[in-house]
Amino acid sequence: MPRMATMPREEWKTFGSVFDRFTEKQVQSLISKGVIDGLIGPLSMGKEATVFTAQAGEKTVIVKIYRLSTCDFNKMYGFIRTDPRFPKLNRQRRKVVFAWAQREFRNLLKAREAGARVPTPITHLFNVLVMDLVGGESAAQKLKIALPTHPEEFISDLIAQMRKLYKAGLVHGDLSPFNILNHDEKPVIIDMSQSTTLDDPNAKEYLARDIKNIAAFATKVGVALTVEELEKKVKA
Ligand SMILES: Nc1ncnc2c1ncn2[C@@H]1O[C@H](COP(=O)(O)OP(=O)(O)O)[C@@H](O)[C@H]1O
Ligand SMILES: [Mg+2]
Repeated sequence: MPRMATMPREEWKTFGSVFDRFTEKQVQSLISKGVIDGLIGPLSMGKEATVFTAQAGEKTVIVKIYRLSTCDFNKMYGFIRTDPRFPKLNRQRRKVVFAWAQREFRNLLKAREAGARVPTPITHLFNVLVMDLVGGESAAQKLKIALPTHPEEFISDLIAQMRKLYKAGLVHGDLSPFNILNHDEKPVIIDMSQSTTLDDPNAKEYLARDIKNIAAFATKVGVALTVEELEKKVKA
């Protein structure tokens, strides 16, 4: 990928609700440490986080910044409260947002180790997460937009990815065509901040929802698959 021009620090402020003083310092710190050379530009502005592309030597990487202020804090707290890996978390806004970034890092790492196709996490620093960019010349598109050319193969690969997560004791928790990228006709699962372990009391409910979403998508692209069939395959 060609080297891209990075944004001057003054321009970060344009993304008002992302860059408070604290967050600015963390991004600056990633630059001083040599993790990234600078931010290139925003890729997506979601409910909890803004995703940027960044230059890192010859590579383009992803910097996902969880907003400290305008996030749905109650929702975030609700989702992480039951995760057995974060037993001591209380209702402190900042700590919850930091834990959220840390949790996505840990989930991506665990998924990677299990051999699932997810972006490789690089590092995390408070509310900032750095990971590999999925794509070639530019970021791969969401499955929602980039429908598979060979649905049968794509869905069977996606089921294999789901099975790997399940075997590793992970439940994605927000699995849908919005959080799966179509990279050269192969599924790459992203957005694992909500992912939890199978011993989370809510894990069953999240898994059931993930399975329902993917069964519906499969049917939509012409691959007949019931919720029961998919569940059996994921847990096989
Ligand atoms: N590693 C990645 N490689 C390429 N694109 C990515 C990557 N991570 C995120 N994106 C892009 O940014 C969007 C938002 O990222 P996501 O992790 O889903 O955050 P959100 O919580 O805002 O949904 C994704 O839909 C995708 O288009
Ligand atoms: Mg998402």
